[in-house]
Amino acid sequence: MSRVIRTMQATDLAAVHALERRTYPRPWSVHLFAQELAGESAITLVCEQDDELSGYLIADMFVDVWHVMNLAVAESCRRCHVASDLMEAYFAITEMHAHRGHTLEVRVSNAAAIELYRSFGFVSTGVRPRYYDDDHEDALIMWRDWEGESA
Ligand SMILES: CC(C)(COP(=O)(O)OP(=O)(O)OC[C@H]1O[C@@H](n2cnc3c(N)ncnc32)[C@H](O)[C@@H]1OP(=O)(O)O)[C@@H](O)C(=O)NCCC(=O)NCCS
Repeated sequence: MSRVIRTMQATDLAAVHALERRTYPRPWSVHLFAQELAGESAITLVCEQDDELSGYLIADMFVDVWHVMNLAVAESCRRCHVASDLMEAYFAITEMHAHRGHTLEVRVSNAAAIELYRSFGFVSTGVRPRYYDDDHEDALIMWRDWEGESA
């Protein structure tokens, strides 16, 4: 099995969007992915496994905080550390330069994702009530400090 984590390309958008639609009840549009891809500050990563797209991660910088905005792994590839590899690649990029930390929102019922983020040092710092449009589920806000040294 070969696994590569690399930057997302425009040619990945169809496969990324297909996985997005299989994963979320309210999927991002292709346009939104394309916008992130074109953005100067965004980090857009995919995991390619045996020439198939098995996952992706999108994050962007807002002021001095990184926001993990989207992360998904194909159902058949879960629990094989695809998300962990994407997160490690993301931290390898982001930890090089000073920033305040990382944040994200996750459904309070999403035990798998919460456990994944905890394993990377995220802690819950609050709740956004009725955050999700489709069913008004609450979002847990998670945070991780920058671990580098300030100048
Ligand atoms: C959450 C998600 C991205 C995890 O991807 P993954 O590639 O399966 O995760 P990993 O294999 O890297 O898991 C790393 C760790 O996270 C935790 N974890 C992952 N899935 C878990 C599950 N189903 N139950 C409990 N813990 C889980 C475990 O601690 C795991 O380590 P371990 O396997 O050594 O015990 C994947 O389940 C997914 O795409 N879910 C649907 C979309 C989603 O919820 N995205 C996040 C939105 S905020």
